Amino acid sequence: MSTREGNDASTRANAYALDNASPEALARFPALADAFDQGTQRHLAALGVAPGWRCLEVGGGGGSIARWLAQRVGPAGHVLVTDIDPQHLRFADVREVEVRIHDITVDPLPAASFDLVHARLVLVHVRDRERALANMIAALKPGGWLIDEEFDSSVFPDPARNPGETLLETHKALARTLDEQGVDRGFGRRLFGRLRAHGLDHVAAEGRTFMWPAGSPGPAMMRANYLQLRSQMIAAEYITHAEFDRDIASLDDPDFFMPSPVLWAAWGQRRQSAQDLHV
Ligand SMILES: C[S@@+](CC[C@H](N)C(=O)[O-])C[C@H]1O[C@@H](n2cnc3c(N)ncnc32)[C@H](O)[C@@H]1O
Repeated sequence: MSTREGNDASTRANAYALDNASPEALARFPALADAFDQGTQRHLAALGVAPGWRCLEVGGGGGSIARWLAQRVGPAGHVLVTDIDPQHLRFADVREVEVRIHDITVDPLPAASFDLVHARLVLVHVRDRERALANMIAALKPGGWLIDEEFDSSVFPDPARNPGETLLETHKALARTLDEQGVDRGFGRRLFGRLRAHGLDHVAAEGRTFMWPAGSPGPAMMRANYLQLRSQMIAAEYITHAEFDRDIASLDDPDFFMPSPVLWAAWGQRRQSAQDLHV
């Protein structure tokens, strides 16, 4: 089942640097799923997601994790998947899944309702990350689990440390552009401390990083991001047309490889007593 609620004003108030309306989103979401879903599913399974669970997937993007959750919770369970722009969340055929237009920083959620709340690569993009975390935690049942996965992309490819790693001018220009738009590219590493500060129990974290060669999902994701912000980066004179074209071509060079950002997963459990939360 799919229902859609929410308000467009909240969408406008929280500009997202990689707007889902752009054609590049069609390449980004499958690449994200190929690059990261296996590890995300491992974490979710380890937290015990089981038939009958009520789950919230925040900023669901292309919906691959909501779809996996729906299979896991089965007909006795429920998955609410939200996004400021849910146009790629197609769940008319899945009765366990409800889709909602929703801004995690400002729009209401049912309180103390979910066994699991998950987000991936959403909070790096939102301005009020602390409010978003507090809202996600308040939506957990006592004893429910929050798991958030975010990049630390503050470390760049570095050919001086590892000959063969490719640092593209476009990569530096993208980082600069995202920084200016309020993206916190180092947030993943801080998640563990933030979940503790919000009063969760049993907080733990794990980082995943990969070497990404040409033709693998990581460069496909980077290509989508570079192409989406191409005009901005060139207009700001962070990069020339020629540099951009050279860098896009090098993503297909068999000699190309780059280390991925670290995707940190951090998780913690809401205490049985709501008074204990530091929200
Ligand atoms: C980089 S994509 C990640 C998508 C998906 N979570 C994944 O990992 O494949 C970020 C998603 O978060 C959504 N988003 C951005 N700001 C949001 C907000 N304030 N509230 C809810 N969703 C948001 C975007 O529309 C986009 O779908």
